[in-house]
Amino acid sequence: MTRRIETAILISGRGSNMAALIEAARAPDYPAHIGLVISDRADAGGLALAREAGVEALAIDAKAAGGRTAFEAALDAALLARKIELICLAGFMRILSPAFVGRWPALNIHPSLLPAYKGLDTHARALADGVSEHGCTVHWVSPELDSGEIVAQARVPVMTGDDPDRLAARVLVAEHALYRSALAQVGRRLLAGG
Ligand code: GRF
Repeated sequence: MTRRIETAILISGRGSNMAALIEAARAPDYPAHIGLVISDRADAGGLALAREAGVEALAIDAKAAGGRTAFEAALDAALLARKIELICLAGFMRILSPAFVGRWPALNIHPSLLPAYKGLDTHARALADGVSEHGCTVHWVSPELDSGEIVAQARVPVMTGDDPDRLAARVLVAEHALYRSALAQVGRRLLAGG
């Protein structure tokens, strides 16, 4: 069997980007295997979606774990036990410590054309500025929020009459395609030793 990059996805919510990556990784020539999904919330809808798709899915509650250091130690243990090589954050709403980020290579998807609109409420802020183009970015996770090296971006037009929800829905479609292709690109690079 061809070697693939063993990948875990971290989520906090509905998991539509997670589902897109799991679906992409079904292709025999996809360079990443999704072996594990972890949510920091037990009520994340994505956990059930992952299990339905046959992927192991765990909830690790940060409060129950006893705070960030203990939470990240529990993450470490789960990731090491499955020999994870790469993490994809997909709607994961918790800030990871610089130490954790230094230990694990991780990608994130962010709903804006970074470096514009780091942080939350990106669609409302883009609309308030009257931009004609918005989009999404896959980037490496670095200690500073939404600031790591950019892997890929997709542009989405802003349409007359858009509100944050309509714009978010258009961007989300682009996110799914972008994350699938960015993980494929990164996976191939890692397999080639780069
Ligand atoms: C996406 O818009 C992603 O860019 C942002 O959070 C949202 C997660 O959506 N970081 P989903 O859980 O992947 O459906």
